Amino acid sequence: METFELNITNAATAGISLADIEKLQPEADRALQTVLEATGAGNDFLGWVNLPTETINSDLVNKITSVANVLRAECQAVVCIGIGGSYLGAKAVIEALKNQFAPTTPEILFAGHNIGEDYLAELMDYLADKRFGIIVISKSGTTTEPAIAFRLLRNLLEQKVGREEAAKLTVAVTDAKRGALRSLATDEGYATFVIDDNVGGRFSVLSPVGLLPIAVAGFNIRALLQGAADMQAACAKPGNPAQLYAMTRNALYRNGKKTEILVNYNPKLHFFAEWWKQLYGESEGKDHKGIFPAAVDNSTDLHSMGQWIQDGERTIFETVISVEQQQRSVIIPNDPQNLDGLNFIAGKSVDHVNKMAEIGTRLAHIDGGVPNLRIAISEISEYNLGQLIYFFEIACGISGYMLGVNPFNQPGVEDYKRNMFALLAKPGYEAETAAIQGRL
Ligand code: PA5
Repeated sequence: METFELNITNAATAGISLADIEKLQPEADRALQTVLEATGAGNDFLGWVNLPTETINSDLVNKITSVANVLRAECQAVVCIGIGGSYLGAKAVIEALKNQFAPTTPEILFAGHNIGEDYLAELMDYLADKRFGIIVISKSGTTTEPAIAFRLLRNLLEQKVGREEAAKLTVAVTDAKRGALRSLATDEGYATFVIDDNVGGRFSVLSPVGLLPIAVAGFNIRALLQGAADMQAACAKPGNPAQLYAMTRNALYRNGKKTEILVNYNPKLHFFAEWWKQLYGESEGKDHKGIFPAAVDNSTDLHSMGQWIQDGERTIFETVISVEQQQRSVIIPNDPQNLDGLNFIAGKSVDHVNKMAEIGTRLAHIDGGVPNLRIAISEISEYNLGQLIYFFEIACGISGYMLGVNPFNQPGVEDYKRNMFALLAKPGYEAETAAIQGRL
């Protein structure tokens, strides 16, 4: 395994000590066993545990690569349509790996993760003169946001290149047998990949849901899977870093720390935090329990959220993802006039200054009573992202069981859909429509 360190500091100022955390080891051992032996609530959704080592075998990786290569050869842009777990993992990995000022080849665009009319109109304008393909990802095949986007973009593509050619440029990632998208894919002859029944959306990035868009963007999915596989091996026995993370956050939560902030000092990790927020929010926020997962991008957010974190209500803790090595080196130049007074750092790299901001902030937050966890990786790479993904996934399962919830369901996300369908007068919702109209 490459560098992957988890350090815990300052638990003491939150009223807990390292010994308080270590006391939770037997609980964490039981929780790990419950995940690995599939004996707990939600145990029919544990397919993600063996994705990197069993399910995603070399035949499947070859198939993903060959379908990706067709889209890479044929398309200037590929639109990935999906929401939640069918979107965030691929977005997180691609944004972390790509050049921030140049599109990948082909350009990867996303749709179906909002119901923004302007977003869709502008996207269709953008695609009008481009040869584009579609990857539509929906386990259920009926989620409203991606279904609307797919209907629009499929029409656009068929108008541009004809129905037969559009089918060659469309890939569906969906349930093996059921659902509208499966039937359409079969009728139209789309290339397809299966989302296994036992893999929930937010745990699906290491399945074709994430791997196909990542491969189309030109990144190394084998290295991503290797990092995850190595982390799986590292977390197979008690006393592993995922347990330590789960134990620490539960110890802090029981001591009044209700919000965890995932902190990065590298703008490329913004969407990694979005993925992490869904993973923990949807897994743990239930039965009126759960740490609220928040995130900041530093140093940007030190100029917006820094005051609150330093000095607001003391109910937070931080987990910092620290990237030791940057891909590029930029040295701050000397300026003979020195009007900005910056010559004291001339000759230093930008990352040196960033690291001092990171260390200085961590110490300031520790002084301010913010417990601080730090996860260090050597660099942003496919391998290290694979490690991080699997680490957070298995830690989430352990942590959820320690919290006493089923980490693998999401009953709460249905409520807004019921109201929305009632308001839209969806057939079958007549009673709900009448009831909700009365509330307006
Ligand atoms: O984690 C989840 O289960 C959700 O975020 C789903 O992935 C999301 O709602 C999309 O569902 P589907 O893939 O069925 O369209």
